[in-house]
Amino acid sequence: MPIQQVPAYPNDAALRETEARLASFPPLVFAGEARKLKKQLAAVANGEAFLLQGGDCAESFAEHGADNIRDFFRVFLQMSVVLTFAGSQPVVKIGRIAGQFAKPRSSDFETKDGVTLPSYRGDIINGIEFDERSRLPDPARQEMAYRQSAATLNLLRAFAQGGYASLENVHKWMLGFVADSPQGERYEALANRITETMDFMRAVGITSETNYALRETDFYTSHEALLLGYEEALTRVDSTSGDWYATSGHMIWIGDRTRQPDHAHVEYCRGIKNPLGLKCGPSLTADGLIRLIDLLNPENEAGRLTLIARFGFDKVEDHLPKLVRAVEREGRKVVWSCDPMHGNTITAAGYKTRPFERVLKEVQSFFDVHRAEGTHPGGIHVEMTGKNVTECTGGARAITAEELHDRYHTHCDPRLNADQAIELSFLISDLLKKGQSGMPQQKVVNG
Ligand code: PEP
Ligand code: CO
Repeated sequence: MPIQQVPAYPNDAALRETEARLASFPPLVFAGEARKLKKQLAAVANGEAFLLQGGDCAESFAEHGADNIRDFFRVFLQMSVVLTFAGSQPVVKIGRIAGQFAKPRSSDFETKDGVTLPSYRGDIINGIEFDERSRLPDPARQEMAYRQSAATLNLLRAFAQGGYASLENVHKWMLGFVADSPQGERYEALANRITETMDFMRAVGITSETNYALRETDFYTSHEALLLGYEEALTRVDSTSGDWYATSGHMIWIGDRTRQPDHAHVEYCRGIKNPLGLKCGPSLTADGLIRLIDLLNPENEAGRLTLIARFGFDKVEDHLPKLVRAVEREGRKVVWSCDPMHGNTITAAGYKTRPFERVLKEVQSFFDVHRAEGTHPGGIHVEMTGKNVTECTGGARAITAEELHDRYHTHCDPRLNADQAIELSFLISDLLKKGQSGMPQQKVVNG
């Protein structure tokens, strides 16, 4: 089928060999886990839970290490506790991790100082260094990405199930964040209420020792299913159901550049049973969306499809209402999630960045639209890291454009750093609380 964003591998035979080897390797995730996630996402579609999805724009071989994974996981869980408490709803936790390696690019080539080379497409395809050798797509990288994903997932499973993710630990980390944040007093009220609740639970004997739900957590993986050869090699028939599943991650999504209904990426995703995400950018029409929903979720199964809106902070009001209305009119069961990152990328002081205020405004507008339409603002999808990088401007510590060069480490798009990510969850907690009390929503004024 027609296909976008395909790397030009120099050696077809080597690529086929790699794919054949990958096809013989063990799956990274199980179909039963994907089904469990789908059930949890069905609760989000029904307005009974909230989705938190986040992680690197692009994982890299260079940043693969236990500290990075641990720090990401810690920040992610803190966000999740804040959102759970504020919304009084379970939070479904999905990382952009253990497989998020392939990147779509707006141009096939990059030119620097008069030299033109193939664009960097993510570590699973080629190298980021600007030289001919690195930029040549190399199939061996697919095996490296597979093995890195397996190691990452192994550690995440240990963290999630081995006691590290206990509510007591997460609460302690969060108190540390509040104490250190320049805007800490804004978050204190919520943090204190969580402390009181935990004290009460402890007093009546509910602790992580007595209750596994306080000791363990469900954590899922996701990535953009962009490199279809890799995905197909890891697509397997589930012996229980006889259905095909992607076993490269629990949830996979279709990017904004590869969602043509008659192209290969949609065709591949149509054939597997995992929960799917679909990025919805400004070029998507209401009819186009319904056509894609027909293809991707013909049985109208709740939890199958998450629509990830990514319009830009000043475009949400122009685009989202008509899509939400079309989905409602047609009675389609979907999760609505907000990616406040990809429509808000600008260049400042020579760096791609995202102003924190715009990220927040996109989320606020997303909530406003859903409250006005009577639909569930089901979740957020963010690019974030557990480290204190300087990639997005703003936030409580007010990173300026001039400071971006200091710790700008991303392999692709700018990520929220640890403080900005937790701060965002506290600010979203206000939106979640307002929704519960039925208070009228304030209109967001852009600019
Ligand atoms: C991404 O999520 O990293 C991405 C490329 O997003 P989009 O497809 O929405 O541009
Ligand atoms: Co990105």
